[in-house]
Amino acid sequence: MAYRVEEYSETVGEAHRKVFGQFFTPPGVARFMVRWVLGSGNAAVHDPAFGLGAFHSAAANEDEVAFTGSEVDQDILDYWRSSSPSSDMVNVRHEDYLLAWGRRFGNIVCNPPYMRFQIFLNRDVVSQEFERRLGIRLLGYMNTASAFLLKSLYELGESGRLAYVMPLEFLNTGYGTLVKKRLIEESHLAAVISLRCERDVFPDAITSVGIILYDSAAEFSHVRFYTVESIGTLDSLFESEPAVEIPYAKLIPENKWLPHFNNDSAAVNINKTVPLERYGHFSRGIATGANEFFALRPSEASNIGLTDTEVAPIIAKSAQVRTPFFTNNDYDELVERDEPVLLFSANGALSPAARAYVLTGETKGFDQRFLTKSRYPWHKTEKRAPSPLLLGVFSRGGYKIIRNTSRASNLTCYHGFQPNLYGLGYVDHLFLYLCSATGREIVSLSARRYGDGLDKFEPNDLNAALAPAPDVFDAIPTDQVDSAIESLRETGSAPGCVESWFENLKR
Ligand SMILES: C[S@@+](CC[C@H](N)C(=O)[O-])C[C@H]1O[C@@H](n2cnc3c(N)ncnc32)[C@H](O)[C@@H]1O
Repeated sequence: MAYRVEEYSETVGEAHRKVFGQFFTPPGVARFMVRWVLGSGNAAVHDPAFGLGAFHSAAANEDEVAFTGSEVDQDILDYWRSSSPSSDMVNVRHEDYLLAWGRRFGNIVCNPPYMRFQIFLNRDVVSQEFERRLGIRLLGYMNTASAFLLKSLYELGESGRLAYVMPLEFLNTGYGTLVKKRLIEESHLAAVISLRCERDVFPDAITSVGIILYDSAAEFSHVRFYTVESIGTLDSLFESEPAVEIPYAKLIPENKWLPHFNNDSAAVNINKTVPLERYGHFSRGIATGANEFFALRPSEASNIGLTDTEVAPIIAKSAQVRTPFFTNNDYDELVERDEPVLLFSANGALSPAARAYVLTGETKGFDQRFLTKSRYPWHKTEKRAPSPLLLGVFSRGGYKIIRNTSRASNLTCYHGFQPNLYGLGYVDHLFLYLCSATGREIVSLSARRYGDGLDKFEPNDLNAALAPAPDVFDAIPTDQVDSAIESLRETGSAPGCVESWFENLKR
């Protein structure tokens, strides 16, 4: 199988594979899934996204399986047929699975193609059919994998089992609500498995990957959430690996489910926490649409001849901030080092120098970028007050949190927090919480996990993340907050007492 995948990939090239969302299930994962569905006692197995037949090969080692498949790409089917001597014994239809309706399947195993539904071929016809037959409106943000899963759930036989490889981001995103609702509505969802080894399992994967196990013959009281670190442990998963068991009553489709993989998450003390947005709002930094044009070095601004009112202080790149505190002195140092820390913001009547610079920008096509094109005038940038807290958008192994007391606003490398009236008095408290181990653990539950340990924070996820309730903050004497801030400034790490303030947020 491995040689086939490599040879095939070389033959058709990456662009072809991308168009069809082709990546291939490793044998260990395919075997685990096939064996699990065969546990239904029904020998019929359908693979709606056949590819090079990873599941069919796995089923060949089991007794008398009646295997069928669907595959839309004639090239991959031809390749598979030419390299598989017994392929004529298997009924694989050349068809678009999302358009082939009217069948029921004993069991279903699938590693569906993964691409944004917006760019999917036949999107309109597929949408109409989903609406007509399932009463489901497919959203543009949804991906093809979710559409495959919804259709397969509908087509699964009465006592059949379904095992699906899925990008797990749907567990935490808005479009996933519909899928989660469908998965739990009859209490047939047995388990969700997060494959932590996804980089080895799916080297091309761009998001974290997992397996959904669904058994329409069973009614479960709990869903088990497993985290698997290596493929080798899949075979003995149910005997040896501990699971987090979440009762159906606590599985809310509108909520984020990724935290369920983490044992601690179930243990956040909801009586002592409130959504962070109680204190204010995180929002995206200023999006210029062309940082090369808008983020200027002081020497560039002065060569162009811009006045002080035509530029504004900014933090343009994450790496410009190196410590948890960013002050006016730090900003001045960046100016001295001639870093790009000035935003071109000549927004009213332009001076001759600014007008000339805008014209240069137009000759270089900066006015035709995705964002600038839809802005009038194209060179007009937002004005934002500096945010007292900044949180890095992407992180690996822990987010970057900055207490900003400088006059600089931030571009999109950071999300900026603006306190509301109520939160004004809690900015330092929140900063210490976000720096603490407990805070990091709780807030990270709201991150979207991508492959390779990369976390991405969206402003809304941060706003919904849990923070200490006001009475938890109020119980900390103000002078202790101040001295914790000082000590963090001097030593780079928060004193032990900070951990003790927040420890009891977890049960
Ligand atoms: C992620 S690959 C999985 C292949 C194989 N089952 C495996 O697990 O290794 C998805 C497969 O679905 C096929 N595919 C994409 N869109 C499809 C559609 N609308 N109907 C049927 N197959 C489709 C792709 O060509 C690709 O072979």
